[in-house]
Amino acid sequence: MFRRSALAAGIAAFLAGPAIAQTQITIQHALPANSHTGVGPAAIKEVFERLTNGRYRVVAQRNDNEREMVESVQIGTIDCTFTSTGPVGNFVPEVRIFDVPFLFRDTAHARGVLDSEIGQQVLGRFSARGLHGVIWTENGFRHLTNSRREVNLPADLRGLKVRTMENQVHMRAFTVLGALPTPMAFSELVPALQQGTVDGQENPISVIVANNLNQVQRYMTLTNHVYSPSVMICNPGLMQRMTPADREHFMTAARAAQRANRDRVTQDDANGVELLRSRGMTVVTTVNTAAFQEALAPAFAEWERSLDAALLRRIRDWR
Ligand code: PAF
Repeated sequence: MFRRSALAAGIAAFLAGPAIAQTQITIQHALPANSHTGVGPAAIKEVFERLTNGRYRVVAQRNDNEREMVESVQIGTIDCTFTSTGPVGNFVPEVRIFDVPFLFRDTAHARGVLDSEIGQQVLGRFSARGLHGVIWTENGFRHLTNSRREVNLPADLRGLKVRTMENQVHMRAFTVLGALPTPMAFSELVPALQQGTVDGQENPISVIVANNLNQVQRYMTLTNHVYSPSVMICNPGLMQRMTPADREHFMTAARAAQRANRDRVTQDDANGVELLRSRGMTVVTTVNTAAFQEALAPAFAEWERSLDAALLRRIRDWR
């Protein structure tokens, strides 16, 4: 009996071929797997595992605390993350330039700049901070939601407690607009809205839809107040351990992730307003953008001084 099962195991092992050493890569991202942030790691898994013939296994995990994810990549307890730029400027200050409100005219402008040498230069800055910037992805343009009132003009923001990301540029913008910015991780947002710790929040349509924020927010205004890039960041050790050929496969996979993410944001932006209205939200779509830009004038003057003014101009003039 023993000899028959040992023989069967031997045959099975022979048919399966030699065991291959597998390296696991853990990638964390916020939001559900089936969202614009989840499709990125899924594409990396599909493409990189296939191109490396299964020598790598990619594991995607959800974590709605983006600062924690960046710290974990830095110390190497996870390999990579897809994160908004929300907390990233606290690690790589040069990233903050992309968080300036009303910097990008539209999605094509933002994607064009991030894919140009400007975006590459900023990715190059990550290495000085113990991080490897791989590729730019996105959340899309951010909009305001709240549970109190319709926001049509900056004056409607006065006194509104708005959850922001842990991002100096965004917090300053909301202060100048008269709101009370309250920074916190996304993982804390829904309880904070339920308990009334904050009245509102700001995020792109993809995020509002994926997280059913309509269940805790009645009003939405399409403020388009800032484009929200996201970025794939890895631990430099992971990149150094890969052979040049595997690094190339990794970049092919990263480009597939970027395409999947951007396509999904485009699709969510196209369907999102109707979907959120059908879920009961009141959506203000006609916004006096010039009024918001005017109200932000003191903050724009500060950013001209504190950020790279020449680069701000180059980005604005980019065609
Ligand atoms: O609001 C945030 O913290 C971010 O936009 C989110 C939802 C985590 C996506 O990157």
